[in-house]
Amino acid sequence: MNSNELRKLFLQFFAERGHVIKPSSSLIPDDATLLFTVAGMVPFKNYFLSKVPLTFTRAATSQKCIRTNDIDNVGRTRRHHTFFEMLGNFSFGDYFKEEAIKFHWEFLTEVVKIPKDRLYVTVYLEDNDAYDIWTQKMKIPADRIFRLGKDTNFWEMGTVGPCGYCSEIYYDFEGGKKDVVTGRDIETNDDRFLEVCNLVFTEFDKRADGTLGALKQKNIDTGMGLERLAAVSQGVFSNFETDLFMPMIKDVAEKAATVYGKDPKTDISLRVIADHARGVTFLIGDGVLPSNEGRGYILRRLIRRAVRHGRTLGFRETFLYKVVPVVLHMMGEAYPETAQRKDYITQIIKLEEEKFQETMDKGLEILNQEIEMLMKSKTAILPGEVAFKLYDTFGFPIEITEEILNEFSMSTDKVKFKECMETQRETAKKAWKGMSVDEHAVPEDVIKNLPVTKFTGYTGFSEDGCKVLAIVKGGKKIASAHDGDEVSILLDKTSFYGEGGGQMGDKGIITGPDVELEVIDTQKTDDRYIHRVKVIKGSVQEGNIVKTTVDMDKRSAIMKNHTGTHLLQAALRDILGSHVEQAGSYVGDDRLRFDFTHYAALSEHEVRLAEKMVNKWIQESVPVEVEVMSVEDAKNTGAMALFEEKYKGEVRVVSVGHISKELCAGTHLHNIGEIGLFKIVSSASTAAGIRRIEAITGDASYALVLENEGTIKELKTVFKTSDTNELKEKINKMLREFKELDKKVNEVKKAGMMKDVDEYIAQAKDVNGTKVITIRFTDADKEAVRALGDVLREKMKKTVIVIASTAGEKISFLAMVTDDITDKHDASKIVKRAAAICGGGGGGKKNMAEAGGKDASKIDEALLEVEKAVRG
Ligand code: ALA
Repeated sequence: MNSNELRKLFLQFFAERGHVIKPSSSLIPDDATLLFTVAGMVPFKNYFLSKVPLTFTRAATSQKCIRTNDIDNVGRTRRHHTFFEMLGNFSFGDYFKEEAIKFHWEFLTEVVKIPKDRLYVTVYLEDNDAYDIWTQKMKIPADRIFRLGKDTNFWEMGTVGPCGYCSEIYYDFEGGKKDVVTGRDIETNDDRFLEVCNLVFTEFDKRADGTLGALKQKNIDTGMGLERLAAVSQGVFSNFETDLFMPMIKDVAEKAATVYGKDPKTDISLRVIADHARGVTFLIGDGVLPSNEGRGYILRRLIRRAVRHGRTLGFRETFLYKVVPVVLHMMGEAYPETAQRKDYITQIIKLEEEKFQETMDKGLEILNQEIEMLMKSKTAILPGEVAFKLYDTFGFPIEITEEILNEFSMSTDKVKFKECMETQRETAKKAWKGMSVDEHAVPEDVIKNLPVTKFTGYTGFSEDGCKVLAIVKGGKKIASAHDGDEVSILLDKTSFYGEGGGQMGDKGIITGPDVELEVIDTQKTDDRYIHRVKVIKGSVQEGNIVKTTVDMDKRSAIMKNHTGTHLLQAALRDILGSHVEQAGSYVGDDRLRFDFTHYAALSEHEVRLAEKMVNKWIQESVPVEVEVMSVEDAKNTGAMALFEEKYKGEVRVVSVGHISKELCAGTHLHNIGEIGLFKIVSSASTAAGIRRIEAITGDASYALVLENEGTIKELKTVFKTSDTNELKEKINKMLREFKELDKKVNEVKKAGMMKDVDEYIAQAKDVNGTKVITIRFTDADKEAVRALGDVLREKMKKTVIVIASTAGEKISFLAMVTDDITDKHDASKIVKRAAAICGGGGGGKKNMAEAGGKDASKIDEALLEVEKAVRG
């Protein structure tokens, strides 16, 4: 059976048994304790922990997973992968061990039709329940069941979280053999026995201190690797020989003019590329971008490792991105959201490949030289500094360096490598710290001891009866603040929006019976709003009741920009494609900035199209609607959410008719018509795969129109015309005339120099039978100097000519040597000596050379040096 069939059959089997079929969650988990989704149960963690209300108690998925603990083994074995799919069924306090066991046995033996005598079972040492179910209910002979220890038969998600004893089903590749199989064989003989599924009886919660607590309910979590199931079903020994990998292996092998199975070294490279192509496709598809940290670093490592193996196969050009369509051809049906982003994924990989290609050869050359040196000196450890240089300058992830070294039975000094990394980080941190010291920060204990601030600013600009809960200055709580003080103030409720989700914090005033405070900025930490204020009048103390009033003009400008940002995103998705996702934003009162994922620079046409589309919508005056609902419901409505943002509890869904629907905590207009004019002012790129658009709305865009109009008016007055077309013509005409004039001026200058040619010749000095002509100019035209040199060289014999011209402090030298003496004198050497006097350098040919210098005060000395050089 092919993999698409197997995946479908599994889900269908469990759907028929009352399971809700859920689509795969992202590879980026909604869980700070994990870098990636490592198992099918990860998205359900809170269901096991009874942290969310259950709307269903049985579910089944085919979950995209990434495991990174063994990347270096990937390609070298039959079974290691970075990306894989886990088929799983789950019970949340519904059925337990017996059904889980029955379901899987039935699926494997009756649906996939694996002969029973090919299967073995393991249970946890002390798990008599599971043992009895297998022997008594399932009638599995006792010699096919093994009780094993915690290493194999206790499953946990990570250092903390849901866990439990497990029972595994193994497939015997050498079924039919009559020897006695032991538990130890199952554990150690990977060549013969393959774990096809793992049934976890999730009943514990592992705490941070390592102890196990009982979960409120007993659950089931199962995992069946699709790659393994495919290998068994398709009768191949290696996962790589299944239809999940062969298309990529064949494609790459063909392009590299080789075949799979011919040479072990080539085969490793083909497997690495096939595996990593899947990994990087899905990582980028889920929003990861190459970087030097966290998930981005893993992605970068995968791309670079694949590229390095590509070089082993003989690829000199980028090739990995071309494997993406092959991956998606196979997987697109099961993961349509990734298939949709094909172009984006392809482009990101191509960019990263290109970047690494530029430095990889140089890096490999250095590493090879080092390896040779190590071999000669009979040492096996590459200095950590070299590994760091390879990382820092040539982009070699340390693991790639190690992998190459391993091939020569060598390693690197990782301690030293880490030291180098640390030093670099410290330097960077210091440079950063020097720039930003936040003296207005509110200490954590103050924050923690206060209730969450109630934000009332969605519906109004001001709020009465707010209680002052804390006043902080210089990192300490104080009782009161007075005239002229700058402090941070926290209230029980406020109409001031605290910076968040790209939207800047509100400004305005806070007033009380005896006090007036100017709010310079509002921030937010753990849902506590921090007003940075200046006391304008009177004094304020803890417990006072005050009124908050947001600067309405500023806030309404912010709202125009925020709603405008949503419209811009919608337009970009429409024009560029649905791979466009928000990668960052700034929403201020002055302008908006929207960073988004897209692989190419935007054309002028695309930018105008987006602007036009947004303005068209604005003219339709569509109302903006806000609904509050659970994250789950919000995602079900199809609202757009940020890739990496973690949403908690209730969220706001901001909709603009059919145009846009986004999860957003910001403040928005009632109707998009209020935006007025939406004007894009710049379009650029900020990082590989990320573009940035800046735009203005409302008063700001109107002001821009006025400003531009003013400029045009001024120009019209200067050019004495009232017609815009005529103005353009006049300016063009002027530019043309200017160019002509420039040319003429140069000619005149040249003529001026030429006029004196005879004089220069007359002044030539004789130095040991060679004539030396030195000339100096100020602000001379470069071409004119060249022309003069050419004329002199033509007219003269046995002559060295050096012309120096200064422009401010800068000097340029031109040296010429007539062809009859280039065997004796070298223009390049002469010009270098002269320029060195003025702190510069240059070079060229024997008969003509140029150089620059910085210190014009030494020009005479430099020209004297020419004579010295000729004298020899
Ligand atoms: N969560 C279990 C595993 O990953 C099923 O093996």
